[in-house]
Parts: sequence; structure tokens; C-alpha cells
Amino acid sequence: MTTHDKDRQEFLQLAGLATPMALRVAVTLGLPDRLSGDGVAAGDLAAELGQSPLALDLLLGHLTTLGVLERTSTGYRTTEYGAKLRADAGNGLAGLLDINAAGGRGELAFVELAHSIATGEAGYVRRYGKDFWTDLAENPHLRETFDRQMTQRYLTQVPRFVTGFDWSRFGTLVDVGGGHGSLLAAILKANPSMRGHLVDLARTAAAAEAALREQGLGDRVEVSAGSFFDPLPAGADAYLLSDILHDWDDEHAHRILARCAEAAGAGSRVLVIEAVGGLGAQTEWDLVMLVLYGGRERRLDELRELAAAHGLVFDSITTLTEQRSLLEFHREDIP
Ligand SMILES: C[S@@+](CC[C@H](N)C(=O)[O-])C[C@H]1O[C@@H](n2cnc3c(N)ncnc32)[C@H](O)[C@@H]1O
Repeated sequence: MTTHDKDRQEFLQLAGLATPMALRVAVTLGLPDRLSGDGVAAGDLAAELGQSPLALDLLLGHLTTLGVLERTSTGYRTTEYGAKLRADAGNGLAGLLDINAAGGRGELAFVELAHSIATGEAGYVRRYGKDFWTDLAENPHLRETFDRQMTQRYLTQVPRFVTGFDWSRFGTLVDVGGGHGSLLAAILKANPSMRGHLVDLARTAAAAEAALREQGLGDRVEVSAGSFFDPLPAGADAYLLSDILHDWDDEHAHRILARCAEAAGAGSRVLVIEAVGGLGAQTEWDLVMLVLYGGRERRLDELRELAAAHGLVFDSITTLTEQRSLLEFHREDIP
């Protein structure tokens, strides 16, 4: 093969949509789970799942080329490699790829990337006719799968967030948009005298409350169902925004920071955990944030500038993991 042909093939492999979509549809249909065991004939599987026998066989063939499935004397079965796509594999992949779950559905908005690049707006709105958060609010399955995805993505990082920063300085911490509360729970467990307050939208807040109670933290944590565009609980020692600002364009990010600055009192801090542009943020994620939300992974100077508009003075940046940093701010008028 000439270098010219090799380059062409490499680019086509990078850019081709057939394989990513085959994997996503396979997971959506639950094929890696269903085909664990003895081989199943394509026709039987098609009847069972209500799919076109001919078309399903084509999909099974490509999944076999990819090594996800293998042929047996009786049909197709999942390989050891393909088992990593099973719902019970424990790696969160199935949840991310399923096109009916929040992650997979969001990824399909990439077909609107050209629109996002032209306008700076979320491709998600163009594809689904509503923004990401409205879609989640209207569809409990999306809400639940997104929240689970958020917990899963931090599983290995949370212990390093807890040890990588001195949280013991704070007696009270408000986790603004705290999701199911896995980070807040870990911080509270490591700092037994601290009290926490999590704020998130109603359905997520209810699940967070149950999860925190289950972990024995019910008496040290308060959960409020509410919006971070409305006033936040006032007077806490610290306000945490973990992976919040990158979900929003500048106008909305300003409104969130304004609420934190307004609630923060003497000596309190605003803590921002983000993937910072140029400091570990992946360029690919810039595009994900753009397409999903019209957001981006901001650089340090951009985050400082955003915060400064609300009298929040930058104190320090701490590298927590390869991908996340923590920025600390205090109110300008209150040292
Ligand atoms: C990317 S997730 C981050 C969750 C959590 N802070 C973490 O780092 O795992 C963004 C969170 O913001 C919450 N959120 C979105 N809009 C909100 C609003 N208007 N008010 C409060 N929370 C909101 C979502 O429900 C979600 O839990």
C-alpha cells in the first residue's frame, strides 16, 4: 500500500461513522448481553428483538469483524472483548453508548456540529428541538441515566479530589449542582466535622437525598431542590461548582457565579472544579460541551475573568487529576 493510500485509509477510519454507530446500536439493542452464552442465529435474534433479519445479520457481521462477536456453529456470541460492552461490565460504557440513554442521545447531536461551529450554539437544540436540561426534565429515563453517568465518570477521580485539596478548612460546604452527591459524600466522610448542603434540580436532588441518607450522612447534609439561577443557601464557608460552568455559555455562567458571589459571606470561598483549557482539558471535550450545551472548557484566564465580574478574586489553582483542576476564589470586598 502506498503512503497516499495508507493516509487515506487512516482518515477514513477516523472519520467513518459506520463503526461507531454499529457499536452504539449493538449496545442499544443489548446484543453484548443477549449473546453472552451459546451462539444465537441471526434469524432467531431478529424475531426476538423485532428487527429486520437481513439487516441485523449485516450488523452482526460487522460486529464480528470488530471482534465484539464471534461465529459459532449455532450463530453469534459475544467475545471476551465484546463483554466489556455488557450493561453489567462495571465500566459505564453501555450507559454511554446506548442511544436511548442521555450520553448516547447527546452524542448523536454531533451531526449538528456544523451548525454549532457556524453559530456557537448547541447542536443538541437543533437536533431535538429543546435544550439538554429541558430534555432531561421531560424524560425521567434520560435524567436518571445522565445522573448515573455523572457518578460513574468520577468513580476513580473522587478519591484524588478528596486528598488533593485541604477541605478541612471549611465547616460548611454547598455543592451547587451536586448531582447524586458522590463527591460531597466523599468529602464529608473524609472531614467528619463538616456539614454539607447539595442543591440540584428536583428529581436529581431527591435521588441525592436518598443516596446520602443511605451512606449514613443524613444528619450532616441538607439537600435542596432548586435552581442555581435562583438564590443559593447563604453564608456557607465554601460554594463548590464541579463541572458546572463548562455546561453553559458565558451569559449563563455569569448568572451562576453571580448567585455564588451573592450567597458567599465573610471568609467564604467559591471553588470551581473544571477541566481547564490548556491545563489538561481535552480539545475533544471542548466540542462535546459546545454541541451538548453551547459551553466549552474555559482557559484559566477566561475563568478568572468570568469570576472577577462578580467580585470574585482568584486565589489559587490546584491540580487534582490529569483532567481536573480546582480554582479557589474569595469575594473582593470580604478578604
Ligand atoms: C455535569 S453535571 C455535574 C454534577 C456534579 N457537580 C458532578 O461534578 O458530578 C451538572 C449538574 O448541574 C445540574 N443542573 C443543571 N441545571 C441546573 C440548574 N438550573 N440548577 C441546579 N442544578 C442544575 C444538573 O442536574 C447536574 O447534576
